Amino acid sequence: KTIVLKLDPEDKDLSSHPGIIKGGKILREGGLVAFPTETVYGLGANGLDPKAVKKIYQAKGRPSDNPLILHIADLSDLEELVTVVPKKAKVLIEKFWPGPLTLVLKKKNHVPDEVTGGLNTVAVRMPSHPIARELIAAANVPVAAPSANLSGRPSPTLAEHVIHDLNGRVEMIIDGGSCHTGIESTVLDFSEDKPILLRPGSISLEAIEDLIGPLKLDAGIATKEVQHKKPKSPGMKYRHYSPEAELLIVEGESERVKEKLIELIKNSQKKLGLLATRELVESLDTDLPPITVKVLGSREKLEEIGINLFKLLREFDETEVDLILVEGLPLHGLGLAVMNRLRKAAGYQIIRV
Ligand code: TXA
Ligand code: MG
Repeated sequence: KTIVLKLDPEDKDLSSHPGIIKGGKILREGGLVAFPTETVYGLGANGLDPKAVKKIYQAKGRPSDNPLILHIADLSDLEELVTVVPKKAKVLIEKFWPGPLTLVLKKKNHVPDEVTGGLNTVAVRMPSHPIARELIAAANVPVAAPSANLSGRPSPTLAEHVIHDLNGRVEMIIDGGSCHTGIESTVLDFSEDKPILLRPGSISLEAIEDLIGPLKLDAGIATKEVQHKKPKSPGMKYRHYSPEAELLIVEGESERVKEKLIELIKNSQKKLGLLATRELVESLDTDLPPITVKVLGSREKLEEIGINLFKLLREFDETEVDLILVEGLPLHGLGLAVMNRLRKAAGYQIIRV
């Protein structure tokens, strides 16, 4: 049976909390514990124990060639896992750790193939969420953790989402309330000459380039061109984040996007949903056919959109909707990360206007 435990991230005595100590012990001894991070909930296992790591793939139904991130609580744990940390990576660590930034580096031999999908690199991140940090410290091992959802489903930003997907499949779920950013970490590959952005996140491309200069963008990332090339990060090739309904994104200048969405709403035979900004929703005429509308948040507050995104995609599963129309957003700052997730959820069904 799964133990569900509520913890207050603000609790000053987390490190000695019996729940944290118990969670740490379960992890160290090869069990699975789901826990909140500042991005999304993670499904943790002892990252140095191949058997424990295999359980993650089983619990999620995840393809085993899709490698996992090792989470550490202390900077000194990094050198145990990787052979070199390039200078530019050090600059980013200095600035952004602990926080939502994952670095792919050359791995040391003892990092199991089960974590890396057989690659010679390993992804490492030091989360900032107090519960994540104390749990990893209590486990006293690097914690392998993908997002705590069934493979292919939207990532969990609330414990309810984890319980929905994984209850009965894991030893423990720690409920620490809502995650802060709602979008998974930025993933950067430093294992080759030039750093490559494998997955955009809340630490933006612009913020990183300001510090270390230009990045290469991996295929599969939402750039101005839609790309269908084979992505380098194995995780980027699978259908992802998907609710049961289909998604169709309309991208372009915002007035034209609105006109196109209205045209689609007027002419569609399907049961429609609309996922759009508050600005767009509030400007719609009231005489449109009835559809299920979910408000992403304000264009002026992309953080709000980040926090709501996966939750709203899941909420559409509680409705009868069979096609969700989505307002495309500009690709700067957090917008790049949001659109990357939406484009994948849509299987790249996009109308450009
Ligand atoms: O915010 C996050 O990163 C969350 C929380 C729980 O920390 N975790 C997360 O894990 O999103 P996951 O497994 O859903 O995504 C990890 C991504 C995948 O796209 C995977 O392919 C990529 O990182 N990845 C992991 N190891 C890699 C490696 N050695 N080389 C290239 N890509 C790697
Ligand atoms: Mg995931």
